[in-house]
Amino acid sequence: MKSTFERLATLVIVALLLPLLSAAQASSTKKQMAGLIDDNMQFAVKQYEVLKNNTPADRMPRSFANGKPVTSDTEWWCSGFYPGTLWYLYEYTKDANVKAEAEKRLAILEKEKRYTGNHDIGFMIFCSFGNAYRITGDKKYKEVIDTAAVYQVTRYRPSIHSIQSWNKSKNLNCPVIIDNMMNLEQLLWVTQNGGSGKYKEIALTHANTTIKNHYRPDYSTFHIVDYNLDNGEIIKKVNGQGAHDTSAWSRGQAWGLYGFTMMYRFTKDQVYLNQARQIAKFILNHPNLPADKIPYWDYNAPQIPTSRDASAGAIAASALLELGQYVNKAERTTYVDAAAVMLQSLSSDAYRAKLGENGGFLLKNSVGSFLANSEVDVPLTYADYYFLEGLLRYKKWYL
Ligand code: GLY
Repeated sequence: MKSTFERLATLVIVALLLPLLSAAQASSTKKQMAGLIDDNMQFAVKQYEVLKNNTPADRMPRSFANGKPVTSDTEWWCSGFYPGTLWYLYEYTKDANVKAEAEKRLAILEKEKRYTGNHDIGFMIFCSFGNAYRITGDKKYKEVIDTAAVYQVTRYRPSIHSIQSWNKSKNLNCPVIIDNMMNLEQLLWVTQNGGSGKYKEIALTHANTTIKNHYRPDYSTFHIVDYNLDNGEIIKKVNGQGAHDTSAWSRGQAWGLYGFTMMYRFTKDQVYLNQARQIAKFILNHPNLPADKIPYWDYNAPQIPTSRDASAGAIAASALLELGQYVNKAERTTYVDAAAVMLQSLSSDAYRAKLGENGGFLLKNSVGSFLANSEVDVPLTYADYYFLEGLLRYKKWYL
């Protein structure tokens, strides 16, 4: 039997040791993450040489399928991700060749600053020229972003309080998709950097309409809300790339998480922070989220296990790291730990390509549109982009 004194002494020793143990663990996690970040960046510089060599000078990389590179013109919604990823790589490595390649690709992309074919001018211009301006401070890049915002808001439709995502088609009248949240960053940034207040106003109006009309009580989101432009009424809420109309398409959930976290960054409005926290809860507590935290292509996919979507994992990881900046310590730990698992998973052989393979892309295993059998289990530019962004965010905020 231990005496009262002995029991007290044990308690005191444990109380003294616990903070030391947890500090030691935190320092070892930091060391491990620093190594992982550096390894990925050094790998990416070499791997992106392969991607560059696979991509004609007037095209952008898109994917790699059946042993062949797939490229796109600059009108494709993903055209900003390759130059944007190069800027992230340059930011970390200061490699002059990477910078030169980024500049060449911006030169072919610049004409899209007047693109009005859909809502994606935010992805196209802000992920590319936005990074270029942030890193170099060169005013010529800012002019491109300012021009893009002018054209972006031509798709704003007052009757539905939203920016129209896609044009009218056989099945859809005026579709607004959850992905559109991502394009609002460009508008908020332009207002914050000397532009008209109308860009921010449109972004806020769009985001508020999205909360009202896209989100379900469990904080999952529909992919598409289709509107009647004449009277502003909702015609239907439907699936695009997910499993069915009421399912939770994984990338859509990640776009929403990222979008509302970003909205909070610019506005400090608690409504957006709450929205992002609830979406994070939906994702992180979902019974179908695998242990490595890289989601299947849809949380309600008809057959599980099924294909993972590395892009959804990368987008969610990057978003969670930012969300961690806006909450208390306990909640931050939840988000940062989950994001670290995602980044570690994506860095493993299960998702990260071997040097020289995968057409030069970093990550394998993304899904464009599963049911359309389009881009299933292939690399996609945005997976690489948000993966590197997440690694840099971890370095900036948590190392
Ligand atoms: N924005 C289109 C997609 O996420 O597939």
